[in-house]
Amino acid sequence: MKIEFTDVEKIYNLRRDVMRPGMDLSYVMYDEDNNEGSFHLAAVEDDKIVACITFFPSTNPDLPYENQYRMRALCTDENYRGRGYATQLINKGMEIAVSRGAHVVWFHARVHLVNFYRSFGCVEYGQPFPVKYSCMHINMYKVFN
Ligand SMILES: CC(C)(COP(=O)(O)OP(=O)(O)OC[C@H]1O[C@@H](n2cnc3c(N)ncnc32)[C@H](O)[C@@H]1OP(=O)(O)O)[C@@H](O)C(=O)NCCC(=O)NCCS
Repeated sequence: MKIEFTDVEKIYNLRRDVMRPGMDLSYVMYDEDNNEGSFHLAAVEDDKIVACITFFPSTNPDLPYENQYRMRALCTDENYRGRGYATQLINKGMEIAVSRGAHVVWFHARVHLVNFYRSFGCVEYGQPFPVKYSCMHINMYKVFN
């Protein structure tokens, strides 16, 4: 497996199949996908993209830090789960965000993944909230020195 930068167009299908199965691709196309500073990482195995993640500059007013990035749309093809691909994508993405000046990375976590994200040093705040077409989520973030 190798991790590489990818164009967002190449991960729409994986995002849709993992996060919004059966729905139109437009449900997994985000306004921020092509913003300046946005980047997308792909885990490539068997010459195909089997996991992906997206980061983009975005300020969360709840957090008193400059240079914030949001992490979004972490997906691993169900046939390739449990191999550490999501873990590697998070670590690599955070490393790149920090190298670009990020002081914090924040995201909306599925509540059942809170312990997973805590293992990266992320912390949650506030109350869980519903996300349309998905499950309950909670705010999480990680601060970098
Ligand atoms: C969450 C997800 C990205 C993990 O992908 P993955 O490549 O299998 O992750 P990893 O192999 O790096 O797993 C690392 C850890 O995550 C944990 N984990 C993975 N999926 C989990 C789940 N659904 N519930 C609880 N823990 C989970 C595993 O326990 C694993 O821990 P271990 O190494 O101690 O066994 C994948 O299950 C997925 O695409 N889910 C659907 C989309 C989603 O929920 N995205 C995140 C939105 S916040």
